[in-house]
Amino acid sequence: MERFRKYRTDQKTRDKYSEVSIMTDDLIYPYFIVEGRSVKQEISSLKEVYHLSIDMLLADIEEINNLGINKILIFGVIEKSLKDEMAKMAYAPDNLVSRAVKAIKQKFPELIIITDVCLCGYTDHGHCGLVTGHEIVNDKTLPYLSRMAYTHANAGADFVAPSAMMDGQVNAIRTYLDQHSLKNTGILSYSAKYASNFYGPFREAAQSAPAFGDRRTYQMDFRTIHQSLKEIKTDIEEGADWVMVKPAHTYLDIIQRAKQEFPATQLVAYQVSGEYMMIEAAADSGYLDGDKAMMEALTAIKRAGADKVITYYAKKLAGILIN
Ligand code: PBG
Repeated sequence: MERFRKYRTDQKTRDKYSEVSIMTDDLIYPYFIVEGRSVKQEISSLKEVYHLSIDMLLADIEEINNLGINKILIFGVIEKSLKDEMAKMAYAPDNLVSRAVKAIKQKFPELIIITDVCLCGYTDHGHCGLVTGHEIVNDKTLPYLSRMAYTHANAGADFVAPSAMMDGQVNAIRTYLDQHSLKNTGILSYSAKYASNFYGPFREAAQSAPAFGDRRTYQMDFRTIHQSLKEIKTDIEEGADWVMVKPAHTYLDIIQRAKQEFPATQLVAYQVSGEYMMIEAAADSGYLDGDKAMMEALTAIKRAGADKVITYYAKKLAGILIN
């Protein structure tokens, strides 16, 4: 008889034989920034996640910094009245995200700042690219994503993270940044981003739900496997420094394949809003232990092969790990 139970006799023994763990250094914490002062408003669809004005953002970063979190992802959320068909506020000089980046860099120079680069929070129709009729046009969108990336990089962002799923976006951004002496700014590409039903709560957070249609003409169909590897390969060739698979829980197979196929590139997985809220809602209903389910889910993402995880749980998890 093979004695497997010897690996499980008590906590110490189980710890000794564990092969994978999630650590604070793996975590990337997302923030939703708004204009104004002293704004800290819980997002109704995303428990314990807030719309923060820049002053409140800095106060929150103080907390996560003390917990050892060293990477953040920033989304700008602007007033509806400021959105237009050209997404002008996305790349306006001194825009919301650029000001946030500057303020953070001044106070926390060591923190790694990643900014989301996508037009959906800035277009009046809520699509990730420019629109002609009902078509989301690819090539015409690229210069605007590049300009948006430039404003963030120029403000001091360490990484820009294109999430629009326009073909050629990494190449366009890399070329534009290089031309503007921003050779050292990294690109974290949302390479394999599926058209997922699990983004629901985020669209309220970012106020970016599309006014017509959906995102299935640019985000990936969830019945595909190999396209994700081609998307990742292309992004690496175009100059992506880190690549991403998104969502995470329902795409563990894709994470595993991506890590096997591209072991030399840092792989980031995004545990998205719906994946987070599924656990939270079930925990609130008493169906499961939220903290334990969180730990299991995040460990599974690492076990599949992710090097880093973007998660709304980052602060909570870092708080548990530090004790
Ligand atoms: C923007 C973007 C989305 C998310 C990250 N960047 C939403 C979308 O594509 O509609 C989703 C994140 C989440 O659900 O937590 N394109």
